[in-house]
Formats: sequence, structure tokens, C-alpha cells
Amino acid sequence: MWNVWIATCATTAAVTVPAAFVLDLPSTNRIAFELIVTAMFGVDALLTWRAGDSASDALLIPGFSRAPQLAVDLLAAVPFGLLTGWPLLQVLRLLKLQRVAQLFRLWRFNEIRRTAVLRLVFFLYWMALLTHWLACGWIALRGSAPESGNFHRYVSGLYWCITTLSTVGYGDITPENDVQRLYAMATMMLGVGVYGFIIGNVATILANLDPGRVSRLHRMEQLSTFMAYRNIPPALRDRIGGYYRHLWQRRLDHDETEIISQLPPGLRTDVTLFLKRDLLQAVPMFREAGDGFLREIALEMKPVVFMPGDYVIWAGDHGREMYFISRGTVEVLSPEDGVTVLNRLSQGDFVGEMALLEDAPRSASVRAVDYCDLYRLDAHLFENILAAHPTIAAEIRAKAQARRSTPGSPPG
Ligand code: CMP
Repeated sequence: MWNVWIATCATTAAVTVPAAFVLDLPSTNRIAFELIVTAMFGVDALLTWRAGDSASDALLIPGFSRAPQLAVDLLAAVPFGLLTGWPLLQVLRLLKLQRVAQLFRLWRFNEIRRTAVLRLVFFLYWMALLTHWLACGWIALRGSAPESGNFHRYVSGLYWCITTLSTVGYGDITPENDVQRLYAMATMMLGVGVYGFIIGNVATILANLDPGRVSRLHRMEQLSTFMAYRNIPPALRDRIGGYYRHLWQRRLDHDETEIISQLPPGLRTDVTLFLKRDLLQAVPMFREAGDGFLREIALEMKPVVFMPGDYVIWAGDHGREMYFISRGTVEVLSPEDGVTVLNRLSQGDFVGEMALLEDAPRSASVRAVDYCDLYRLDAHLFENILAAHPTIAAEIRAKAQARRSTPGSPPG
């Protein structure tokens, strides 16, 4: 809060110091303001000096050393302009803007959401200050009559500055002598640079505002080029489109593996537990299982999506994995005719355990009824988990036994 307060004082000083040269600001208010700023900057200089290296850590000041920092802080704190009678020395106050830059750096470092928006805000801040200074400079050079009023003089200066900086230049306010012409030329040159900088920055910031959307659009373009190039039939195109729609609706398209793999082990497990919480809460036996078991299984289960009509399991195949249903419904089809529905299973249920338990071919086919989000558990991990958690193993075995003894249980 202190840093924010000092940054606010520094900003106010950066606005009022140049404005005081060219506008008629009430002097009593100014003296009071200068006193407050001197006190605040003085206290801050002292605090930063006392904090030493910890201030450098806290504010992320690169190459921090105490003495130069104290010098900068004191130059900004002491009202040299008022003490010496050279008002121009008041500009030294602007050195305190260093604190604003530090604060912005810190903010960007700590804030991992909305980084692009923050960049835009910081950029606008510096642009606004620069425009204000240039406008004050123009008013000083123009020396317009004080009777015209502060507001009018400032608005005219700002207007000239913005039209010149933005390279619009209507030409209704034009330089009248060489000094003004030189100032106008310098502002125009600055404007060209700033203009390019703004366009480039804003374009990058806007492009990065929603990287998810950008990568999705890119994927869509790649897909449609591929489908057109390879003459994919319309029915298949519809299915591909449907698959991606489902992924985006369920927010499953983000490639999280790399991001998660960069986290330290403890955090990686916690994030994985959070991402798979829908499944872990849906499966009754998981709910009763201990923390250790959940952590173990959450890391091992891989999400897979099946579309309506897709076969999750084919009867007679060799079993290498089992599936937990996170969302959607599957139907178990009779191995005899492949049509009769033996059972319907949905969220919280599992399939494919029998082949793994008995080391036998798949006892039935399993087909997705709608879009199904399943989690796959590979056979060797399944065995490890059975060996380590006997109660869970007993439950899975009991369920497999029940399914075997009542193969034709009604759907529902
Ligand atoms: P598995 O034999 O590996 O492959 C087919 C799966 O369908 C089987 O494991 C069980 O998970 C499931 N299954 C088989 N018969 C039934 C049933 N009657 N009710 C529910 N699920 C079943």
C-alpha cells in the first residue's frame, strides 16, 4: 500500500510540476502539496535506505545499491526548486517516477492473469504522461495570454500535442517562430516513432489477449484446409467439427500436459487433483478412498473423448486398459449379437476391468451413446493400484463378479 501511495504521489508530482510552469495553479494549494510530497518522499527515502537489500528484493530493483538509490530518492524528495529559487529544479521530482516503474515491474511479475491487459494499462500510463509533458512544453513556447484561462490553454496545448503526435496534424494550430517549429518537428519525429510503437504494441497485446481463442482459430483453419485438401466426405467433416465443438465446450482442448509437467511434484499433483475433481467426486469408491490413493490415481489417469456411436471396447479384443466415466453414457452390448444392450453405464461407473482382472479377452463391446469423457487407466497401473489398495481391489472384483453373474441386467 505504501508503494502504491508513493507511486500516486510521484504521478501527481509528474503531472503538476510541468503544469505549474505554464498554468496558474493556486499557490497555497501548491505549497501544501509540495510539503506533503517532500514529507512522503523523505520518509520513503529513509525506509528504502533502512530496508536495504530487502527493498531491492521486494521491489525487484535490478542492480540495486543503497547509496545511488538514496541519492535518487533525496533528489526527488528535497524541493530544490523552492529552496534555491530556480523553479526548473523542481523537475527533479520526476525522478520518483522510478518507483512507478518498479511498481509496474513488480505488478507484472506477480500478476499471472491478464498480463496483456496490464501491459496495455502501463503503456497507456506512460503515453498519457508523455503527452501531458509535451502539451505543457507547447503551452510554454506558445505563451498564450493568461486571460484565456487555464482550461482553454491546457486543452489547446493537449489538442496540438495529440494531433501532432498521432501524425494527424490538422494545421489549425501552427508554429509561429523557429523555436516552436523546432519543437513541432521534434514532436512529429517522436510521434512517428511512438505511432509505430503504439500500433505494434497494441496489435501484439490484442493478439495475445486471448491466446486460447487464437490457437483455436488457427487449429480451425488448419482443419478446414486439411479437410478440403484431402477431400474428406461431409459426414466425416461433421463428426470432426462435432468433436472439436465438444472439446471447446468442455474446455478440454488446452494442451495442459507441458504446463503441468513444469510444476514441482506437489503442485503438479494438486493441480491434477483439481482438474480431475469431477471424476474423483463421481466415482463412489474413490470418494471413500484415502488421500494417498486419489493422488496416485489422479496422476495416472489420462482423459479420452468418445463420440456418439464410437466403440470404447470391442468384444474379443485383448484388454490393455480400463475406463472411468467422467461424463456421458455408454452401453454394454451382448457379445452374441453385438446389438442387444446388456447395460447402460454413466458418470461414476467404470468399464473394461474384467479383461484385466481375468487376463481374458473382452467379454462384451462397449459403445458411447453420447459424447463421453472417460479417463483411461493402463493395465500395469491398474495392477499396481490393486496390489497397493486391497479395499478398492475388492470392490472392483465384486462389481466384475456381479456383472458376470447377471450379464443381461436391464438397461438403466
Ligand atoms: P471387459 O470384459 O474388459 O470389457 C467389456 C466390459 O463391459 C467389461 O470388461 C465390463 O466392464 C463391462 N460389462 C460386461 N458385462 C457387463 C454387464 N452385464 N453390466 C455392466 N457392464 C458389463
